[in-house]
Amino acid sequence: MPDPSSTLRVAVVGCGDISAVHIDALRAMPGVDLVAVCDVDPARAERAAAAAVTAGRTVHAHTDLHAMLDAEHLDAVTVCTPHDQHVPVAIAALERGVHVLTEKPLAHDLVGAEELLEAAATAATAGPQLGVCFQNRYNEPVAALKRMLDDDSLGRPLQASATVIWHRTPDYYEASPWRGSWEHAGGGLLMNQAIHTLDLAQWLLGDVVRVDGSAATRLLGDVIEVEDTAEMLLTHDTGATTAFYATLAHGRNAPVDIEIVTERALVTLRDDLTVTWADGRIETVATTATAEGARAYWGVSHAALITDFMDSIRSGRRFWIDGLEAAKTLRIIQSVYDTSFPARPVRRMATAAAGLRTHDE
Ligand SMILES: NC(=O)c1ccc[n+]([C@@H]2O[C@H](COP(=O)([O-])OP(=O)(O)OC[C@H]3O[C@@H](n4cnc5c(N)ncnc54)[C@H](O)[C@@H]3O)[C@@H](O)[C@H]2O)c1
Repeated sequence: MPDPSSTLRVAVVGCGDISAVHIDALRAMPGVDLVAVCDVDPARAERAAAAAVTAGRTVHAHTDLHAMLDAEHLDAVTVCTPHDQHVPVAIAALERGVHVLTEKPLAHDLVGAEELLEAAATAATAGPQLGVCFQNRYNEPVAALKRMLDDDSLGRPLQASATVIWHRTPDYYEASPWRGSWEHAGGGLLMNQAIHTLDLAQWLLGDVVRVDGSAATRLLGDVIEVEDTAEMLLTHDTGATTAFYATLAHGRNAPVDIEIVTERALVTLRDDLTVTWADGRIETVATTATAEGARAYWGVSHAALITDFMDSIRSGRRFWIDGLEAAKTLRIIQSVYDTSFPARPVRRMATAAAGLRTHDE
């Protein structure tokens, strides 16, 4: 465990769109020294390194992960690569005793997820942690709702709905072709965009014990192999259900909507939280943070999550959104794909009944 008063040496792996949000957050963080970046594309690595310079301190640009791990004596890396690269990058770092915060999803398939969970469990005995970037759990209205559900002030959640009605153009996939491919992304709308809302649904209402759903490519079939639309009914371990609908076939990124009917109130999350109690009183929790980076739909809480991860390294506390937590959404998504895309190119778990390990194992 690093000395709590020491500065953490950190690098960012993958210097594409989202890396700018990680780099900005790390540059601004006390107790963190962003010493290097890595991208297989040398121009991207150089560009990110130049943009990451803070107070005249050099940031090294690398194109080879292993060479960077040899040279930089890192405490942590954040992983911002395409989905199929999360597992090899994370395992290489964990095996060197380096903490890993990876972007979602945990992995691009269940086989990779199981390999990473195993590596994280082995690494954890020596200290290095694996965290996964589900930053929307840190949004103030979301955290307030979670507290109200946990302290039972709302009563039992009964039924919920969640919608993600967004917009992606062919340009978005042409800029990074991995995003539209089964091989490199492991899925489309669900793996890349709606995964955050799916994570909130299962975190707020309880672990998902049954998934009835389907996915399809409705608008972007000329451009991508993976799905752009999905619907499902999730059954949670509490008995509550969530009706979930998501698509990229809209003309804008509409605000994500989550609505929950509980024993004592109707709760809506649409940026802000509104609780309409059974007696007619209305309470709201407004978000005070503003969107980071160029794209508002990335949300407002990357910096909060990354700060919490670095603090947990420094204090020796286990980071709470770990691989096991992130495996929950992956399991849900892959089960929908098994129904709707049974012939997709995917590595299968060794036995048909095999699932990913859980917190209980
Ligand atoms: N949490 C969020 O809100 C959020 C938002 C956007 C993207 N993401 C996630 O961030 C990740 C990256 O997405 P993006 O849109 O920035 O992708 P991108 O295509 O813009 O960038 C990916 C970068 O990784 C580099 N790369 C590929 N393989 C590599 C390897 N083995 N080692 C080092 N670099 C490698 C590529 O050259 C590219 O520069 C994905 O997992 C995506 O789901 C998360």
